Amino acid sequence: MCGIVGYIGTKRAYPILIKGLQRLEYRGYDSAGVAMISETGSLNVYKAKGKVSDLEAFCQEKDITGCAGIAHTRWATHGEPNSTNAHPHYSASGRLALIHNGIIENYLTLKEKLIERGIQFRSVTDSEVLVQLVEYIMQNNGIELLEAVQVALHQVIGAYAIAILDREHPDTIICARQSSPLVVGLGDDGAFYLASDASPIAEYTDKVVYLNDGDIAVLQLGKELKVVNMDNETQHPKVKQIDVTLGQLEKGGYPYFMLKEIFEQPGCLRDCMRGRINVDADRITLSAVIDYREKLVSARRIIIVACGTSWHAGLIGKQLFESLCRIPVEVEYASEFRYRDPVIYPDDVVVAISQSGETADTLAAIELARKAGAFVFGVCNAIGASIPRQTSTGVYIHVGPEIGVASTKAFTGQVTVLSMLALCIANERRTIPGEQYKEMVKELTQIPDKMEQALKTNEQIERLAPIFTYAKNCLYLGRGYNFPVALEGALKLKEISYIHAEGYPAAEMKHGPIALIDSEMPVFVIATRDRLYEKVISNIQEVRARGGRVTALVTEGDTQIQKFADHIITLPDTLECFQPLIASIPLQLLAYHIAVCKGKDVDRPRNLAKSVTVE
Ligand code: G6P
Repeated sequence: MCGIVGYIGTKRAYPILIKGLQRLEYRGYDSAGVAMISETGSLNVYKAKGKVSDLEAFCQEKDITGCAGIAHTRWATHGEPNSTNAHPHYSASGRLALIHNGIIENYLTLKEKLIERGIQFRSVTDSEVLVQLVEYIMQNNGIELLEAVQVALHQVIGAYAIAILDREHPDTIICARQSSPLVVGLGDDGAFYLASDASPIAEYTDKVVYLNDGDIAVLQLGKELKVVNMDNETQHPKVKQIDVTLGQLEKGGYPYFMLKEIFEQPGCLRDCMRGRINVDADRITLSAVIDYREKLVSARRIIIVACGTSWHAGLIGKQLFESLCRIPVEVEYASEFRYRDPVIYPDDVVVAISQSGETADTLAAIELARKAGAFVFGVCNAIGASIPRQTSTGVYIHVGPEIGVASTKAFTGQVTVLSMLALCIANERRTIPGEQYKEMVKELTQIPDKMEQALKTNEQIERLAPIFTYAKNCLYLGRGYNFPVALEGALKLKEISYIHAEGYPAAEMKHGPIALIDSEMPVFVIATRDRLYEKVISNIQEVRARGGRVTALVTEGDTQIQKFADHIITLPDTLECFQPLIASIPLQLLAYHIAVCKGKDVDRPRNLAKSVTVE
């Protein structure tokens, strides 16, 4: 959701900014813009509705010279997506240009005051208020940009990552962060790079500084990075080594990132388990569990907070923690939890799951839990993001950057981390016998191989996909551990093919969705061999009896279900609790191929964002 890129150095800024915006396209956006201080000293702003390629087309005949620039992809919140509302925004005099991610909550009050003082606005965005306010403060007090930013930010309520160019100081970019991510890259030649995450920076430098909330950074060409706060106190953020490789940011021969990421999953899960499961595959070591053993082992209750796909991973986590650790678990949408005045005990463990580590609602839920004195544990992918920094401890899923908006490898990475965490805690609490623990750990290490087997269904699914492209609605059914898999399968289809789909507990179908079943509505049933296998067969028959068309995911060797299903997709056997890691694969592939058949932009579905930094 919204992306920021900046560069100040000795090279031409424009190509770096455009490439950076392309790297951030995955976050989701609907317009883009760039500002540069040209060779002749003018501050040029170019903006376009649509894709970065539309911006490039718009810039073709324009002056794109200059070695200092900022650029932005906007995901509309205040005001429709058009070139006026796109960023960067000029200040009234045209001296400053600003880009902003986040939301300024008190923008209307600030705007009214500025209008009273004669300032005219061009856009209807909350962001423009910032640049007008900063320039007004500069002019009214006769002060320079840094001081004006400090004064302005004292008046602002909300979330922001901002970057400002000043025509009068072409060697400097000033940026600031509050609850919205911002990373500064340090070039060897004195240049600075700026971005919402490390992906636009990775090809230029491996040294980065993740700004903290309240930081204001001055990027002045050839000078040391200066970081202060609103009260001008010097801050000392650490320089970190970047964790992203270029290969992870390219499609590597696949037509879409999503397909690449689906196929990467076996390798990702090996990375996720590496160093955590010993070579004999009989023991899991998570440093967070060692460091905070008492808190975790004696948890009175676990509350999982998350959004979207991460919430589905949480539903699987609930079953793992309850059955293996015998700890009661609640799974909450972060957006509901934060406003519900929930009961939180100091001996609760709150587990926040988020691939991006930046989801605004999840961050707010964490804050609430912390205030209530609970211990907060993060399960994240993005290194150095806000959630890992605001939780007491946690475990990274280490699956590499996920670029496709529809989450795939992050989901299975989250489920793998939750599986390891539940097994660790269960072993410490002695709620499962030692032998069972060892067998389960061994089986977990076999999952990547079994995923490879499951990926072999790709060709079959590609052949099946055209049958489903004309569907208006689809139903996904599963029970037990496979119920969240059904929810996630339906979400994947919705997100990228725009076909309405619902996930339902198979037995619950007869209390409503059964009324919808006819030969027009495909029904996908996860019917792998587990405790509820026979019951799921009955549910399939209920669908068949009403003329429904069933595609069933079954365990290899199954001979029963083919009698009742139109299509069978066969998967390797594993323990019931790890089945989601296998059964998700064909459902991801199904969504992917249906969307491709429908000619959709799989990696950039309409209206969606990868990193949802507004509530
Ligand atoms: C967005 C993404 C989803 C993701 C959800 C939660 O909607 O498109 O893929 O599941 O946000 O994001 P998080 O980063 O917290 O997992």
